[in-house]
Amino acid sequence: MSSDPNDSAANAGDADGIVARFEADALGIADLDALEELRASYLGRKRGAVTALFQALRELDGDAKRAAGAAANRARQQIGARLEQIETELRSAATASREQAELVDVTLPAIPDNLGGLHPITQTLQEIQNVFVSMGYGVVDGPEVETDWYNFGALNFPEEHPARDEQDTMRLAGDLLLRTHTSPVQIRYMEQHQPPLAIIVPGRVYRRDTPDATHNPMFVQCEGLLVDTDITLADLKGTLDHFAKALFGPGTKTRFRPGYFPFTEPSAEVDATCPACHGDGCRVCKGSGWVELLGCGMVHPALFENVGYDPTKVQGFAFGMGVDRIAAVRYGLRDIRAYYDNDLRFLRQFTS
Ligand code: PHE
Repeated sequence: MSSDPNDSAANAGDADGIVARFEADALGIADLDALEELRASYLGRKRGAVTALFQALRELDGDAKRAAGAAANRARQQIGARLEQIETELRSAATASREQAELVDVTLPAIPDNLGGLHPITQTLQEIQNVFVSMGYGVVDGPEVETDWYNFGALNFPEEHPARDEQDTMRLAGDLLLRTHTSPVQIRYMEQHQPPLAIIVPGRVYRRDTPDATHNPMFVQCEGLLVDTDITLADLKGTLDHFAKALFGPGTKTRFRPGYFPFTEPSAEVDATCPACHGDGCRVCKGSGWVELLGCGMVHPALFENVGYDPTKVQGFAFGMGVDRIAAVRYGLRDIRAYYDNDLRFLRQFTS
């Protein structure tokens, strides 16, 4: 053991050198892993430079030992404090950058490009519904898979009616089929309710059509049914004329042409003046000034019998329209296949 003061001076000098080297090393520390590495090489049990200073104390005694011990303690304290400080800085920098990355400014407006919009058929259907709801009609729906009875039989279709043909109707197993119109819901609703009643029935219908500019094998209809006492054709005409004006504008006129449906008698086809040219003739109405609006008629007494109403006591009217077609007129669409292509360039034209 040596008590040479030079030794202790050398030891104190060592401590200062170690602190100076540590300060230089500390400048390059950029993350917590590097910091741990730095801590180990100065204060670590096995290879720490300061730890070595303490081990070297064993070789000393007296004043030299005291001086060297004090120097080693100082070094340990300075390095420990600086490590502490660097760790605090690194941790708060990490928190700040995480907060920055996660920052959400709730006052920013939404990105308009990502907003969805209602399909043109849905928008048109909503307008149609609004007109009838404002007249007191309820909105009802029914199954898309129907039986032959509800789709045809109860609606007074004769056995040999061409619409029953496999060519027109998509048949499923047994007696089931995909409904070809929304009219079966008339029967279902009347079976469950007593008059007076007024409903509209929007929904998908299916026909075995090859898609072209004016046909899709699936399309959307909206049915209407009103049953009460003392209902006449004048009520039907007034209701539909009001509807056409509400949908296409107050200057719209309607005309009723005789038609045929097994479930209405008499039946009519209703046209409205073209909303694009107001009757002058244009591309939308193919020059005629008129567009087809819907089919309608007074409910056939056979239907009332089929649902247990007394046809001598109640009357009613019904109508049915193709929503795809009305929307096509509204938007001047040439090819209704575009509705179901889901091309965003097409659909975006209808977002407001
Ligand atoms: N169901 C008929 C069709 O699909 C439309 C219609 C409904 C006609 C109600 C008259 C009464 O063409």
